[in-house]
Amino acid sequence: MYHIRSYVLRQGKITKAQAKAYAEWKDTYCIPFERGKFLDFSFLFPEKEQVVLEIGFGMGEATAELAQKMLKVGFLGIEVHTPGVGRLLWEIRRRNLSNVRIIQADAILVLQDMIPPESLDGVHIFFPDPWPKKRHHKRRLITTDFLNLVASRMKEEAYLYMVTDWEDYAFWIMEKVSQCPLLKNPYDTFAPPIPWRPKTAFEQKGIRAGRKIHEIYLKKQTSSIPSIEL
Ligand SMILES: C[S@@+](CC[C@H](N)C(=O)[O-])C[C@H]1O[C@@H](n2cnc3c(N)ncnc32)[C@H](O)[C@@H]1O
Repeated sequence: MYHIRSYVLRQGKITKAQAKAYAEWKDTYCIPFERGKFLDFSFLFPEKEQVVLEIGFGMGEATAELAQKMLKVGFLGIEVHTPGVGRLLWEIRRRNLSNVRIIQADAILVLQDMIPPESLDGVHIFFPDPWPKKRHHKRRLITTDFLNLVASRMKEEAYLYMVTDWEDYAFWIMEKVSQCPLLKNPYDTFAPPIPWRPKTAFEQKGIRAGRKIHEIYLKKQTSSIPSIEL
């Protein structure tokens, strides 16, 4: 799938602690991106009952907190920015987490090349870059093609949970979802706040700026027509 990148790699500041964690622990917890090499989750997360993918984990606050609370779930986080990867590595060590792995690469390529079809129990996309200017909308991560790709990697009945603080993006996502036959919205509209989602600094910033949080919670369901006994 050809795509315009949904991110710009800035030469962002990396703290000493993040750089140190990155240098020391990258090889232990990060999986190198490899074209056409599907991961084996039973090897990556032995004894974990479920696998949840988080796309664009930022500084990994939500990832680390959820991983600590849900020890039976394997969390695979994707992020492109080195400071965020360093920060999550630091948290993994600080909290002694054994159920988190990271891939530092474009999520679209990872989904296409490394995530096996029908393998995920859940997918989190918290506060994807909103690209608010109209001329930048083409950079938005959530498109119909992207949602179809994500859905193809989800097991039947797996969930896709997206959250944004940009109203315009929220309605954009809803419109794209309506074009994905595999994704069903049990709420019809936006979902009520889901209590187990930790609030990230990014979310607090949106709230402080007076923006409303929109939650979109979907289920993968292949069959939409109930079978009728004749
Ligand atoms: C607005 S931030 C939100 C971070 C975090 N989820 C939170 O709630 O604080 C969006 C993140 O998505 C990452 N991102 C954007 N496009 C991506 C892509 N195609 N693959 C991987 N990460 C991506 C960005 O680098 C950025 O860190």
